[in-house]
Parts: sequence; structure tokens; C-alpha cells
Amino acid sequence: MKSIDSLSEDHNEVLKILETFYQTIEKIEDGKDKDIDRKSIKRTLHFFNSKFWLHFDKEEQTIFPELSIYIGGGGKPSGPVVVMLDEHQMLRESNKKMQLAYKNFKTNSNIFTSEARNFTGLLRQHIRMEEEMLFPMAVNSLDHSLDSEWLKMFELIERNADIS
Ligand SMILES: [Fe+2]
Repeated sequence: MKSIDSLSEDHNEVLKILETFYQTIEKIEDGKDKDIDRKSIKRTLHFFNSKFWLHFDKEEQTIFPELSIYIGGGGKPSGPVVVMLDEHQMLRESNKKMQLAYKNFKTNSNIFTSEARNFTGLLRQHIRMEEEMLFPMAVNSLDHSLDSEWLKMFELIERNADIS
């Protein structure tokens, strides 16, 4: 399904960003301050405070409700969708802590690296679960005629986003 492929492309883009971000976190922890590109950290943090969340909106408005119906939850989230939604919430909270910790980077970089590690770990694990379990389940069980409807929904979410 093209819609699922598009969500997977988002995942790949995010994993690349996380790889660079993680290297930076390690440099900070090792005290290699001269090698740290603060602009790159700011760009990454801006991404995780803006465009990144459109991906969650896309999943929460298409694949999650449809899979819940298929699994038998009616209008309510059910099965693995509940776990994925919980993780989305955990990631929203973890991001808030990371963003806040960066504001105090100069006085205490340890809190920032700890929060950034936590966010990175959670997100990598979450993406793995979706790729290995949720997306194959959707492709194998859902009606593929949903694809065009979902792609339209993605377009709408992108268009309505007030993000720079
Ligand atoms: Fe995802």
C-alpha cells in the first residue's frame, strides 16, 4: 500500500536524523564540546517540536482506527493499537522534557543528554514495533482500497499544518 510505504519513508527519515542526533549526544557526554554542532541540535529539536508530529496525526487518523475496527474494538482503540497510542503519548511527554532540558543546556548538559537518550531509545523501539508488527498486520488484513482515502488524508494533514 502506498500509504504504508509513505509512513515507512517517514520512519527511515527519522531514523537517519536520530543516528546523527545520537552521535551528538555521545560527543556531549564525552566532553567533546568543540566537535558539537549546536545548529544541528537546534534543527533536530525544531523538527521534533514541529513537522515530526504530522506523522503521528497520519497514523492516528488512518491506520490506527481501521486496525481497531478490524481487531474488533468497534470505535475504540484495541489490541496493539492501544500500545502504540500509549507510546505516542510517552513520546510526546519525553519530547517535552527533552526540549525543556535543552533550555538549561549551558548550566546542565547531563539532564539534556539523559532526556535525549530516553527519547531516542523510545522512538527507535516504537518505529521497530510499527515496522515489524503493525504495518505488516495492516497490509495483510485491511482492505487495500483504503489506500487512496489514506493518501488524501495525509495530503490534508500536511496542507492544514501550520508549520514552518
Ligand atoms: Fe510511525
